[in-house]
Amino acid sequence: MNTTTDPAAKYTEETVIDVHYWTDSLLSFRLTRPSAYRFMPGQYSRLGLPDERGQLVWRAFSVVSAPHEDWLEYYGVVVTGGEFTEHLRLLAPADRMSVDKHAFGFMTADRFTDGDTLWMLATGTGLGPYVSMLRDAAVWSRFKRLVLVHGARHVAELSYTTELRALEAASGGSLRLLQAVTRDPPASLPAGVLHGRITTLLQSGELEALAGASVGPDSARVMLCGNPAMIEETRALLHARGMRPVRRATSGHFITENYW
Ligand SMILES: Cc1cc2nc3c(=O)[nH]c(=O)nc-3n(C[C@H](O)[C@H](O)[C@H](O)COP(=O)(O)OP(=O)(O)OC[C@H]3O[C@@H](n4cnc5c(N)ncnc54)[C@H](O)[C@@H]3O)c2cc1C
Ligand SMILES: NC(=O)c1ccc[n+]([C@@H]2O[C@H](COP(=O)([O-])OP(=O)(O)OC[C@H]3O[C@@H](n4cnc5c(N)ncnc54)[C@H](OP(=O)(O)O)[C@@H]3O)[C@@H](O)[C@H]2O)c1
Repeated sequence: MNTTTDPAAKYTEETVIDVHYWTDSLLSFRLTRPSAYRFMPGQYSRLGLPDERGQLVWRAFSVVSAPHEDWLEYYGVVVTGGEFTEHLRLLAPADRMSVDKHAFGFMTADRFTDGDTLWMLATGTGLGPYVSMLRDAAVWSRFKRLVLVHGARHVAELSYTTELRALEAASGGSLRLLQAVTRDPPASLPAGVLHGRITTLLQSGELEALAGASVGPDSARVMLCGNPAMIEETRALLHARGMRPVRRATSGHFITENYW
């Protein structure tokens, strides 16, 4: 059940309806959705939790659920000592969380005016907004091909794999999921999981070879989400290939979302 704190307030108070821990420090959780809450896949919410003095601490969290779903889903990592996320360690159904009434952000597929292959590159929890996009119909009809690349430290941190592999299998070849880990020994990886950073695998041409699609200005449009160092380094690689960022008034080839 939702509780709208006050019609004039900037936020509503919502209820946790489900919590799923992928690892000790990675979780997905669902909140009740305010009936008036509108967002586009790729956008983020501002979530609030009280600190010891009862003051709300606000943090940005990308929405993982699709716009047609009745709840709001988020995917988070517990940062050791983190003011907000340490509270997520013990999150349980019936807990309360505040949600700003507005959704924010510009990493949405409608900002690309052309291109036929969408590359979605994520490190860690940067995967979340792409899950929302793939749960929604719009991105599937807008692009001929979708390539999702998820980089994580460990295989255990490749969350949402079952759902994403099922979407890939049902896509008739239009979705390719590429996963890469950096801190497990290469010999220990399950079939199909790559070893190395996204940046290294992009530079070497391995991602493009596996996807059967190139990353260049003619047909590729790229989203980058997660670790700011990954985004900075990938941005330089894309610039070197003649690609430029989407700006408010001008079309471009890539959009970025830094998580910190
Ligand atoms: C637009 C936007 C969307 C975001 N969406 C998500 C999301 O969907 N899921 C999510 O977990 N976080 C997301 N974040 C990060 C989130 O807002 C908080 O910064 C994070 O939850 C840590 O808050 P904290 O108070 O616990 O830690 P803080 O005390 O604020 O510590 C911040 C430090 O933790 C590290 N850090 C922060 N976020 C992450 C992360 N996601 N992965 C790895 N290291 C991190 C960085 O080193 C950072 O300097 C997003 C941030 C932005 C700006
Ligand atoms: N057990 C725990 O408590 C635990 C577990 C996991 C995470 N955390 C916390 O969560 C945060 C880190 O989370 P995370 O692992 O999701 O995010 P992350 O540090 O951003 O790592 C995710 C992936 O991004 C890669 N990466 C980092 N910098 C890159 C760059 N410049 N270019 C390309 N790829 C890059 C990493 O490779 P590299 O491995 O090569 O850096 C890793 O494969 C930390 O604050 C950590 O304390 C805690």
